Amino acid sequence: MAAQQAEVAVATSHRQVLLKTRPDGVPKASDFEIVTVPVDPLPKGSLLVRNRWLSVDPAMKLWLGPPGAYMAPTPIGAVVPSYAAGEVIASDHPDFDVGDRLVGRFGWQEIVAVDPETIYWKVSYDDLPLSQSLGVIGMNGIAAFVGVNDICKPKSGETFVVSTAAGAVGSAAGQIAKLMGARVVGITGGPEKCRQCIEDFGFDAAVDYKSSEPLLDALKTACPNGIDSYLDLTGGSISDAVRHLITVGARIALCGTAAVPSWNPWPLGERVERHLLNKQALMQGYITSFQRHRWPDALQHLETWARDGGLVGREDILDGIDKAPGSIARLLNGENQGKLVIKL
Ligand SMILES: NC(=O)c1ccc[n+]([C@@H]2O[C@H](COP(=O)([O-])OP(=O)(O)OC[C@H]3O[C@@H](n4cnc5c(N)ncnc54)[C@H](OP(=O)(O)O)[C@@H]3O)[C@@H](O)[C@H]2O)c1
Repeated sequence: MAAQQAEVAVATSHRQVLLKTRPDGVPKASDFEIVTVPVDPLPKGSLLVRNRWLSVDPAMKLWLGPPGAYMAPTPIGAVVPSYAAGEVIASDHPDFDVGDRLVGRFGWQEIVAVDPETIYWKVSYDDLPLSQSLGVIGMNGIAAFVGVNDICKPKSGETFVVSTAAGAVGSAAGQIAKLMGARVVGITGGPEKCRQCIEDFGFDAAVDYKSSEPLLDALKTACPNGIDSYLDLTGGSISDAVRHLITVGARIALCGTAAVPSWNPWPLGERVERHLLNKQALMQGYITSFQRHRWPDALQHLETWARDGGLVGREDILDGIDKAPGSIARLLNGENQGKLVIKL
């Protein structure tokens, strides 16, 4: 096969964001540096992708941080690992043509010589924004789908609760649970995000964990019949309060620990055993990137719902790769208003 080429002749250099120092806690802008480097030649049997959108995800703190996560930490000086969506600009691979739009683990850089192993999927639609392939029709949507559909399994009339409810995964999860017939209650920080949960995402109620009212009291009011299923995106004291209200046979899907600032030293907290035992409840963790067998089904549902208008994905868009270094802190400090993406 003759290699296909487009545009590369004019792009001789591009920018990358490198990890400069190992973050201590929330990654700061000064932990990164932006460098300009030559564009790699097209590798044999592979492809070059021009990233159009870079994803910013809470998990990046773990990927960049000290050892202890489910993958080895990024070496100092390496390109920051991230999900991204881009366009093939040169191909020497039989399965990919110039112009194909791909989602993968392409890193915070403008042009990438792609290892085909890092490609997640081809984006076949062009009637929905490509940026959504990183959010509501991407890994965030899949995380929501797996947690709600496979573990929480809300039934019609039951109460489903989700934390980080106005965020990328949380907002999608609440909408999916609504589509499955549940009464949906979101937990989020601040009155504006509570408003978004109800008015923008159609939840039945929202609880502000930052308000002066004790969270357990606010949850009792919002969930008078108890909590039948919970998508846990925070852990910590928020989830401690939720577990006090679970019903017999409740399902808890553990997806994130946004409320736990550090796992070194391993923090202590309320014990869960009696809640689970008394209520004969299930609590199950999962990692979306290891649920690859569920991606096609999830993506098919998410795309259909997004097209029908049943699933809304709010986006918080930063303009340009220069914004990347400070973006993880923005997310972890809760300043984002929806899925945080960087437009290139
Ligand atoms: N297991 C998986 O495969 C998987 C996949 C994707 C995401 N996740 C996890 O899901 C969670 C949400 O991810 P996302 O991408 O959708 O991000 P997001 O919700 O769009 O943004 C993160 C949110 O975390 C909340 N937060 C920050 N500090 C907090 C604290 N101390 N207590 C409570 N909430 C806090 C903030 O919302 P508020 O303003 O509401 O506080 C912030 O907006 C993260 O924990 C992430 O690691 C897991």
